[in-house]
Amino acid sequence: MESGISEIKRLYPFKFRTFAVLKAPGMLSDQIRSDFPILTRQVHGKPLVYLDNAATTQKPQAVIDAIVHYYSHYNSNVHRGVHQLSQEATDAFEAVRTQLQSHVNAAHSHEVIFTKGTTDSLNLVAHGFRSVLQPGDEIIVTQLEHHSNLVPWHMLAERTGAIIRFIPMDGRGVLDQTVYESLLNPRTKVVAFNHISNALGTINPVKEMTAKAHAVGAAVVVDGAQALPHAAVDVQDLDVDFYSGSAHKMYGPTGIGLLYGKTEWLEKLPPYQGGGEMIQDVDVTSSTYAGLPHKFEAGTPNIEAVIAWGAALTWMHQVGVANIQAHEDELLAYGTALLGAIPGVKIYGTAPQKAAVLSFNVAGLHPYDVGTLLDQMGIAVRTGQHCTQPIMDGFGVPGTIRASLAAYTSKEDLDQLARALERAIALLA
Ligand code: ALA
Repeated sequence: MESGISEIKRLYPFKFRTFAVLKAPGMLSDQIRSDFPILTRQVHGKPLVYLDNAATTQKPQAVIDAIVHYYSHYNSNVHRGVHQLSQEATDAFEAVRTQLQSHVNAAHSHEVIFTKGTTDSLNLVAHGFRSVLQPGDEIIVTQLEHHSNLVPWHMLAERTGAIIRFIPMDGRGVLDQTVYESLLNPRTKVVAFNHISNALGTINPVKEMTAKAHAVGAAVVVDGAQALPHAAVDVQDLDVDFYSGSAHKMYGPTGIGLLYGKTEWLEKLPPYQGGGEMIQDVDVTSSTYAGLPHKFEAGTPNIEAVIAWGAALTWMHQVGVANIQAHEDELLAYGTALLGAIPGVKIYGTAPQKAAVLSFNVAGLHPYDVGTLLDQMGIAVRTGQHCTQPIMDGFGVPGTIRASLAAYTSKEDLDQLARALERAIALLA
């Protein structure tokens, strides 16, 4: 990490867990749960079992402390002042850009753009392609997408006269690569897909799909919101043109996200928004734009959130991204067996390559009713379409119940879910 551990210690002078703690025997979750103050609270008089991590993760104390520390010690605007506080805030803010560069292995820190989140990142790219696409150009999306990786492309197609094509999923929630190959042609200009499906957990073969898109000269835009919390991501190895994510799904604050873009693409796309800090020269009738990354960062950014995201990244790396992935994979197998053994439960999303999402329904019961009863028992899950209507339509269901896991999820959490589900079924049947 270019910023170095001494810079991290200066920015976050409060206590972090150490690797030594994690060498103790036992599950990862046992060793890190105490980092998350919210996990001790009760809901409806029952201990909270938080299984809505694909929607947002809880925050370790280090992230909460980073926000308080920033406002208590060096709150100031960034990139603007000659004064000490502004300098400290700017240094802390830019150190997190470098941390993110390292986290996704971007070639340059200017390839990391701060946005409001994954949705904002995808809209930024889709908006930029207004000046690239011609009528009749083609955009490939997939049936597995979150609405945030569909609607911006629909809007772009409406604006430019481009045509939307899509890759269907099969009954397991796996994309049909044969259809994908048949869709690719010299008119294909953009291929947009997620790394991991938020509704089903399917892990898509990003590297292979990217190589195929590049063979016809198309740009690849990846929604990485669900992948960044679960696995190491190397954008240079994947060779994607754009990759996006949200801090709040990876133990950081809401309202801040990342757009990675290859330099040549970021230089080619016009700015998304105009305003302060994104300009080179302005007179009353015209402006020229700043270089990367500032060209895409108009206005005062969410400084506290960037700095606290740095604390979240530090926390993740101290725990170990590989440890988190191994833990979640183990729990996914455990939870799949547990829920699959309950009569009437059907799990949606059975891809061989799958991350920590358990989407399911109970025969004869509406997911909302089951979710409401689970909440009464202290279990937080998401119910509904999960912003993925094409997936739900594909399965012919109004929605699912979704339990999504994180580093602090324990086997006991899943045991509680299974017991509560059996009770809910007995009550509703
Ligand atoms: N995209 C988030 C989810 O899957 C909100 O729940």
